[in-house]
Amino acid sequence: MPSRPPPCPALPGLLLLLLLLLLLLRPARPGAVGAAPFEPSWESLDARPLPEWFDAAKFGVFIHWGVYSVPSFGSEWFWWYWQNQKIPKYVDFMKDNYPPDFKYEDFGPLFTAKFFNASQWADLLQASGAKYVVLTSKHHEGFPLWGSEYSWNWNAVDEGPKRDIVKELEVAVRSRTNLHFGLYYSLFEWFHPLFLEDKSSSFQKQKFPVAKMLPELYELVTRYQPEVLWADGDGGAPDSYWNSTGFLAWLYNESPVRDTVVTNDRWGDGCICRHGGYYTCADRYHPGHLLLHKWENCMTIDQLSWGYRRDAGISDYLTIEELVKQLVETVAYGGNLLMNIGPTLDGTISAIFEERLRQMGAWLKVNGEAIYDTHTWRFQNDTFTPNVWYTSKPKEKLVYAIFLKWPISGQLVLAQPSGIPGETEVELLGHGQPLPWTSFKPAGMVVQLPQLTIHQMPSRWGWALRLSSVI
Ligand SMILES: *[C@@H]1O[C@H](CO)[C@@H](O)[C@H](O)[C@H]1NC(C)=O
Ligand SMILES: *[C@@H]1O[C@H](CO)[C@@H](O)[C@H](O)[C@H]1NC(C)=O
Ligand SMILES: *[C@@H]1O[C@H](CO)[C@@H](O)[C@H](O)[C@H]1NC(C)=O
Repeated sequence: MPSRPPPCPALPGLLLLLLLLLLLLRPARPGAVGAAPFEPSWESLDARPLPEWFDAAKFGVFIHWGVYSVPSFGSEWFWWYWQNQKIPKYVDFMKDNYPPDFKYEDFGPLFTAKFFNASQWADLLQASGAKYVVLTSKHHEGFPLWGSEYSWNWNAVDEGPKRDIVKELEVAVRSRTNLHFGLYYSLFEWFHPLFLEDKSSSFQKQKFPVAKMLPELYELVTRYQPEVLWADGDGGAPDSYWNSTGFLAWLYNESPVRDTVVTNDRWGDGCICRHGGYYTCADRYHPGHLLLHKWENCMTIDQLSWGYRRDAGISDYLTIEELVKQLVETVAYGGNLLMNIGPTLDGTISAIFEERLRQMGAWLKVNGEAIYDTHTWRFQNDTFTPNVWYTSKPKEKLVYAIFLKWPISGQLVLAQPSGIPGETEVELLGHGQPLPWTSFKPAGMVVQLPQLTIHQMPSRWGWALRLSSVI
């Protein structure tokens, strides 16, 4: 009789089982934001805590640059306004300045970026006081500023500059500054044949996301590791068409930036202000009240365009007073400000944008303590004195009152915070000496500002008081 094989020894079997259990139960990514892997559903993705650096940053610079910077006329929506909407201003501009058979694609080779020096941009961004930058890696015209494998012959490496713009800026920003590097990406493209085909199927077909948008996004993230991914342009299609939740689950679970990346809310029709990372809600968004969710006010210094346009006049550009006001109001309501500039086709940043950026930097150098790393306060603005905005640092028991008009009386009345005699100190940022204050009835305080000539002012356009231990 053949002998029976010995019974399977129990011990190794148990060990194996234990090992298997351990493998199954181990946290997928120890130390990552929200250790559990995210599911491709909004319920799961929306629950991801926003990486902390973003709320602390408060101020970023948006850069709109692409083939539309060649005509640099009217708007970065040039192609659409000219060929789809047939707006006379654009049609006439082309008639007057270009041969009759000139196509938008012919602007591609003219996009030379001749003087583009990413190090100069990076140094200017640093000087602006911004903590992050968001570059349009591809706008609705579909021209990627990197050598996309999925946009053959219509990208900045094969055409125009013949340079990897995204790479050059990424390297310069990461090596010369402490800014976080971010990328804007338009999901749809106005005239891409596959997108148009999908659209005419009421987005039942999914050729464009499968062949173009999804592979491009994966490529963009793996190659350049952006820490902000600013989606835009859903083209009227739902997030299921874009496979947004599938992509974001990969971004949060597996991508090289899974722990630090932040995204916005423009991931498909109906997503805005509801799903994704932080909310943008609308261009130039201003809720006018506190939100329970982190948000960003994206706006542009040239009030009429995001891309550079040669037909802008000085009154079209927001003044530094207006920009400081935007920043202060936005931060007081808990938002971040993303302030846009549009470089020229040569890759230069016009003197007006440069001046605004340097002015913001000069203001933040003195008053940044009242902006960066702050939280909202009980009140967002003063109810007695107009143009006074509040931020706070609860751990340090500090409240900041930022005032945009220097009172003629030299006395600033603050009706919201009340000082504690013998405890509360008031200081003007950049001035450095404690200021006298008295109580204001029934609540609040009156701060005696120092008598300063215009040359002694620590900053212009706005000032900040640091108030300690107020109630
Ligand atoms: C680019 O700008 C940097 C910083 O201003 C400068 O040092 C460098 O020489 C510039 N490169 C070229 C090619 O002009
Ligand atoms: C869409 O996302 C799902 C995950 O939800 C993924 O399995 C699938 O491969 C994605 N499709 C494409 C085309 O990337
Ligand atoms: C200031 O705050 C009050 C209430 O706290 C509000 O009614 C008013 O609209 C605010 N002013 C501005 C300019 O937001």
